[in-house]
Amino acid sequence: MKRTKRKLGSYQMANNWKIHPNSKISRIKNPIVRFGALCVRNMIASCRQLKSYLRFKKFYRRLVEAETKKAIELAIYYIHATRVEGDIVEFGSHGVTAKIIATQLRLHKSKRWIHLFDSFQGYPDSDSMWQPGGAFSKKNPKQMHRRTKCILGSESAQIYPGWFSSTLCTIADNIKFAMVLMDCNIYESNYEVLDYLFQQDLLSDRAIILFADWWADPGLSSQKAWSETTEKHSIDYTPAGSYSWGSQKFIIR
Ligand SMILES: C[S@@+](CC[C@H](N)C(=O)[O-])C[C@H]1O[C@@H](n2cnc3c(N)ncnc32)[C@H](O)[C@@H]1O
Repeated sequence: MKRTKRKLGSYQMANNWKIHPNSKISRIKNPIVRFGALCVRNMIASCRQLKSYLRFKKFYRRLVEAETKKAIELAIYYIHATRVEGDIVEFGSHGVTAKIIATQLRLHKSKRWIHLFDSFQGYPDSDSMWQPGGAFSKKNPKQMHRRTKCILGSESAQIYPGWFSSTLCTIADNIKFAMVLMDCNIYESNYEVLDYLFQQDLLSDRAIILFADWWADPGLSSQKAWSETTEKHSIDYTPAGSYSWGSQKFIIR
């Protein structure tokens, strides 16, 4: 209880230049020293605010990571338990979810391959809220391949660096996917991928598709691309539940 009070106090104190009549600061006579004391008080309060903000962010990051991990693990369990044929593919791949997939495949002693698609230059130019380039432009595909290979303990990972428009057509003829992880945020990217997968008939019966950002952007880009492409190609599917705070799964029928 005491802790909560102190925390709330710190929120009120940051950027507070009022002097309480009975406070220690009110007893300082020299106006310059008093101003200095107020600055120090505000600085301490701001540090406390920042600390609690970072704690709050860390809490939610962990919560989201745990939910995503669980959803991916269950999806991989699903394709193994129900013997859905094919490999696993991720569109928008920066290593975090790829590591979870690789670890699970290793645990299942699976022979399935992981296919990881990303520009490694961040987002393309688009009308969305996502800026071209951005934080996701810093990864190195070779490094990611090495790490994934190391977790898998085999060569069964393939990285496709470049824009989807030039890498989708390099998928080998004999490949089918049992699980698809969509995490590319942008409508054009989502549409391009889904349209290609359906057009080339790359999904196995009962394949599972996970959309990481189903509710995550104001334009609902994944939802729009999914409804348009499934209608265009007359795809029969069933919703398989939501996960995390804004993600959704589907199973192809
Ligand atoms: C949210 S991040 C993916 C994070 C990843 N799933 C992880 O957990 O590490 C989205 C990624 O989509 C990629 N991307 C979006 N549109 C793309 C496109 N048209 N071609 C290639 N990459 C694209 C961006 O480069 C970015 O790395």
